[in-house]
Amino acid sequence: MIIDLRSDTVTKPTAEMRRAMAEAEVGDDVYQEDPTVNQLEQRAAEIFGKQDALFVPTGTMGNTIGIKIHTEHGQEVICEARSHVFNYELAMMAWFTGCLARPIATEHGQMRWEQIRHEIRSLSPHWAPTGLIALENTHNMGGGTVYPIEWINEICDGAHERKLKVHMDGARVFNAAVALGKPVREICAKVDSVMFCLSKGLGAPVGSLLVGSKQDIARARLYRKRLGGGMRQAGVLAAAGLIALEIMPSRLEEDHAHARLLAEGLAELPGVKVDLSSVQTNIVIFDVSATGRSAAELSAEFKAQGVLINPISETHLRIVTHYDVNRDGCNKALSVIRKVVAPVMA
Ligand SMILES: Cc1ncc(COP(=O)(O)O)c(C=O)c1O
Repeated sequence: MIIDLRSDTVTKPTAEMRRAMAEAEVGDDVYQEDPTVNQLEQRAAEIFGKQDALFVPTGTMGNTIGIKIHTEHGQEVICEARSHVFNYELAMMAWFTGCLARPIATEHGQMRWEQIRHEIRSLSPHWAPTGLIALENTHNMGGGTVYPIEWINEICDGAHERKLKVHMDGARVFNAAVALGKPVREICAKVDSVMFCLSKGLGAPVGSLLVGSKQDIARARLYRKRLGGGMRQAGVLAAAGLIALEIMPSRLEEDHAHARLLAEGLAELPGVKVDLSSVQTNIVIFDVSATGRSAAELSAEFKAQGVLINPISETHLRIVTHYDVNRDGCNKALSVIRKVVAPVMA
C-alpha cells in the first residue's frame, strides 16, 4: 500500500461526501440558482463572520480574485517571501492583477507590522504605491506555522489606518484554528478577505471559498466569470464542500498529532534536522543535508518503498499529514525513512 504524504490535497472524498454529491439539489450557479452552492456560500460567510462568500474551483483562483478586488494595476502587494501567492501561483499577481510583489523575508512565515510598515510606499515619481497586504495562515513553506491572532490584528489595524486592505491566504486556516483552539471568525475578524480551501485537509474533492464584504464579493463574482470559473450545476461539488466545512475541521487535531509523531521520530535520525518548534499543524519540513544525499535522491528511495514525500529544495523534504494516512501509516512511513537514511549515515 502506498503511503502518500506529499500533500493534504491528495485526500479522497469520504463516503458521506460521495453520497451527498449524488443526492445534491442543483441549479445553474451562474444565475445563482444552485441551492447547494448558495447554502455553502451562506454557511462559509456565517462561519467566518463576513457578509458574503464565493465558491471558486481552486485556492489559486480565490487568491487571484482576492488580490484583484483590493488592488489596481501598477500597485505593490506586500507578502511574505516564501508565500504561495508570490511563488506558486504562476505570477497571477502580475499576470492578472498587474501588481508587483514586495516580499518580506521571515523566519517561519509570519510578518510583523513593524516590518511591513517600512515597506509601505506612496505613489511618487519612482515608487509604485502599496495596494494590499497578503498574509498566509497557516504558512505552507514555513512548515504549517500559525499566525498569532494579535499579530494579525496589529497588521490589520496598521493597514486600515493607512487605508490599505488585508487579504489572508487561509488555504489551511482551519488548521490554524485547531492549533490555537479559536474559531476562524476570531482569527479573521479584522482581515478584509479570506480564501480558504475545502480540498486540502478538509477532504472535499474540489473547491475553495473567498469570503469578505457584500460589495467585494459581488465584484469577485464577476472576476470569477472572467477567469472562466463560472460553474453551472456546481452543487454536486458544494455538497461535498458542506461536509468538509461543517464536519471535517473537528478531526484536524488528529493530523496535527500525526505530524508531531513523525517530526519527533525524524528528529532522532542521524543526519536529519527538524525544527520541532515550527511543527504546529499538519506539515513537517526536514533538512537532510547532513546525510550527504540530496532530497530528490532520498525522495526517490522512499518512493521505491511505497512512501511518497516531496522534496521542496535540494536539501529539504516536506511531509503533509491528512485523514487518508492513519497512525499506523505514519509509523510505517517512519520505519521506511529510518531504513533509507540510517545506512547512508553508517
Ligand atoms: C498556502 C496555499 N495557498 C494557496 C494554495 C492554492 O490552492 P489550489 O491548489 O487549490 O490552487 C495552496 C495549495 O497548495 C496553498 O498551499
